[in-house]
Amino acid sequence: MGSVLGVDIGTAAIKIVEIKKTSTLPKLINYGILRSNTHLDRPNSAIQSSALKIAEKETADLLKILIREAGFKAKEAIASIPVFSVFITLLEMPQMPEADVAKAMAFQIKQHIPLPVSEVAIDWLKVGDKETEGGIKQQILLISIPKEIIKRYQNIFKMAGLKLKALEIESLSLARALVGNNQAPVLMVDIGACSTNIAAIDQGFLKLNVFTDIAGSSLTSAIANGLGINVKRAENLKKQKGLKAGAAEYELSTLPLPYLDAIIGEGLRAKNKFEREQEKKIEKIILAGGGANLLGIEEYFAKQTSAPVLVGDSLSALSYSPEIGILKKQLGAELAIAVGLAIK
Ligand SMILES: Nc1ncnc2c1ncn2[C@@H]1O[C@H](COP(=O)(O)OP(=O)(O)OP(=O)(O)O)[C@@H](O)[C@H]1O
Ligand SMILES: [Mg+2]
Repeated sequence: MGSVLGVDIGTAAIKIVEIKKTSTLPKLINYGILRSNTHLDRPNSAIQSSALKIAEKETADLLKILIREAGFKAKEAIASIPVFSVFITLLEMPQMPEADVAKAMAFQIKQHIPLPVSEVAIDWLKVGDKETEGGIKQQILLISIPKEIIKRYQNIFKMAGLKLKALEIESLSLARALVGNNQAPVLMVDIGACSTNIAAIDQGFLKLNVFTDIAGSSLTSAIANGLGINVKRAENLKKQKGLKAGAAEYELSTLPLPYLDAIIGEGLRAKNKFEREQEKKIEKIILAGGGANLLGIEEYFAKQTSAPVLVGDSLSALSYSPEIGILKKQLGAELAIAVGLAIK
């Protein structure tokens, strides 16, 4: 079987992994990350800026550069769509035959999607059952993606000379890479540069998904403003010292805390909502994205949430070259979406 590219186009970086499925573990053949610092100075020029905008030609050019420099061989790609570009709703419906669900959905869709039905691609699937006072209800996850967004990705990949095999919302790829077949409810918190994606996964299914624009860049700005230094220097300091700066640099580690607390607050809100609605406990919190590499974040997150917290390792289910060595932890969290896409 040939290999496939998993392509995660974020606001601060494009990440690609090339994976070949084998009879045993999928094999990581190659990976590459193209980071851009422009989001630090000019938030509107991020590779992938919110408000549904991606500069197609520029992104395709960056993809081409990354493919050339890293030497990716595969031509088939699977890409992720950020949660802020899609609409996700969990619906409850009485038990009924599938054909009837389809009919009922036609009505539900109009109520839950703030765009004309002709402008969105719609997907829904049953993600569980729930006992309620009115009997057992089935839970249906409704995902809709504006067709305009899909078109943009198709254009980008075409311009970059790749065959786009599938598009998937990033939470689903993240869950494939970090939760796999685990049935227990977990909360994934992907801290990127410009957005934090929070998703509850239960029995392998996405049940709740929220996001906030408080993320890695917010921590960097807090350091830059607090110390009166430029953002590039603040970014470097953050990556070097994280929450573990010594007593002499005490301020450096405390400046980002209000923003980290805000991210944790969003996580706790999502956790409580899931636990209340599903009547189940979140067993652990899995951190991912570049922000999960902040030194000391696991301990701090665990202390503030009183829940078990770990940094997700998307490489643990792959075979890979020993050259990855000490980069394993950082890459395992950063490449999680790309890995999840490529093993789809
Ligand atoms: N070692 C580290 N310590 C602290 N923060 C880090 C570290 N490595 C990366 N980051 C932070 O992670 C963020 C980038 O994360 P990531 O690569 O997941 O972003 P992205 O996917 O491009 O962004 P988004 O998901 O918001 O679109 C940046 O804010 C960066 O400062
Ligand atoms: Mg990201």
